[in-house]
Amino acid sequence: MKLPFTLAFISILFLQAAAQEPDQPNDFLTKVFYKERREKLREKLPANSVAVFFANPVRNRANDVEYVYHQDPDFFYLTGYKEPDALLFIFKESQTSSNGTKYDEIIFVQPRNERAEQWTGRRLGDNGVKDKLGFEQAFNNSEFKRYNVDFSKFTSILFMDFQNDVRNNPRDSSDMYDLIVQFKSKTHYPEKNNPTLAVEPIKNNLDANSLEGIMDNLRGIKTKEELDMIRKAVKISCAGQVEVMKAIKPGMSEREIEGIHEFVFKKYQAEDLGYPSIVGAGHNGCILHYIDNYKPSVSNKELILMDLGAEFHGYTADITRTIPVNGKFSPEQKQIYELVLKAQEEAMKVCKAGAPFGDLYKATRDVINKGLKELGIIQNETDKHRYYPHGCCHHIGLDVHDRGPYETLQENMVITIEPGIYIPDNSACDKKWWGIAVRIEDDYLITKDGYEHLSSSAPRTVKDIEAMIKLPSALDDFVLPELDKKN
Ligand code: GLY
Ligand code: MN
Ligand code: MN
Repeated sequence: MKLPFTLAFISILFLQAAAQEPDQPNDFLTKVFYKERREKLREKLPANSVAVFFANPVRNRANDVEYVYHQDPDFFYLTGYKEPDALLFIFKESQTSSNGTKYDEIIFVQPRNERAEQWTGRRLGDNGVKDKLGFEQAFNNSEFKRYNVDFSKFTSILFMDFQNDVRNNPRDSSDMYDLIVQFKSKTHYPEKNNPTLAVEPIKNNLDANSLEGIMDNLRGIKTKEELDMIRKAVKISCAGQVEVMKAIKPGMSEREIEGIHEFVFKKYQAEDLGYPSIVGAGHNGCILHYIDNYKPSVSNKELILMDLGAEFHGYTADITRTIPVNGKFSPEQKQIYELVLKAQEEAMKVCKAGAPFGDLYKATRDVINKGLKELGIIQNETDKHRYYPHGCCHHIGLDVHDRGPYETLQENMVITIEPGIYIPDNSACDKKWWGIAVRIEDDYLITKDGYEHLSSSAPRTVKDIEAMIKLPSALDDFVLPELDKKN
């Protein structure tokens, strides 16, 4: 009994040490996790095939400044690699290299470069990828040119369409473009633009259609390790909502409110946002993906709609709260708010493994139509209208609109339920409703019998929101008089 325990203990220590860079957090997913993901993908590949994944390109913002780099989520899911200019091959069957080595996956990565690293940060390089990410076959990307697998022998080469992608453009993405050019040449990809690429196999064994479905089925069901990451992202995002509820006052700017959320995200080590933050007061809330957040002073009478998600170690939350700036919902705001809340709760009632996604949408839609009719905002429940112009549910994970199948809910999916009502100025209803926009969005883990409500720590009912707004915030006294126009 003693020996296996000791070995296991040592190997856990080794894994944690291996994953750790100096001065970096040490709670990233381990190389064991990524290796398992690749094994699961291999199980789903057709016979005699290879799947190919390209890293996201670096994109230029202006002059010598690049956009902040973010890895392609499929690539990250299978490798944990966060750098550009890389290429991954996963083979269904083992291959044999010229020196007789057997392998079933190979990765090409950007090389170490002392001068570049002084400017833009540490790189793993081929050895780092072997050591930290658990690849046995890892090479610098300059080696790809000499990589001499005969791609014509495969029944299918599965890859994602890059036809309309910046990676296919030498101006924007030079190193990645070179890799793409080499890939095309090795696989006899037709050079001419082929508009049918996305809908049918290009030629012989090239298949740009099948990999998405395979990845949807993999990524749509979360592992325990992923759930830990999502729970953390959700918890941090809820903390942002709570802090804003405590801190909000009429006269604050949308930008300032966005900043409070994002300060909390960073305080708790979220590296990024899952999507640009949406903070819209009054009629700005009617713009579904309003990201200007430029209103300098939110008014006493407005609601403010706040849709934000912290991204923690690659995984994002997606949570919306809508609250009254002055701390108390007006009667009209409350009526609309309660209606959206009821729509969300009706969808929660049908939310469990086996339920069709469409049932959740129908539940929200029925409540909203009935309620809008009762309030006199529409004339008949069946009227066509634009007060609820979006769907109600999507997967979250490495993407805010994550990969996943959309037929029926399955255990260990993580989804949002996000009904909303938006009544822009000049709508064809009593003007007392104009400018009211409410979305309530929560994150749920699907279980066999129902769901776990992951984002319940952000108050959601009228009573709980009004109570939270009454509490003081640590930020209440934060003012620099020389910058504060109000002083
Ligand atoms: N935050 C984008 C969405 O709710 O889908
Ligand atoms: Mn959403
Ligand atoms: Mn959202």
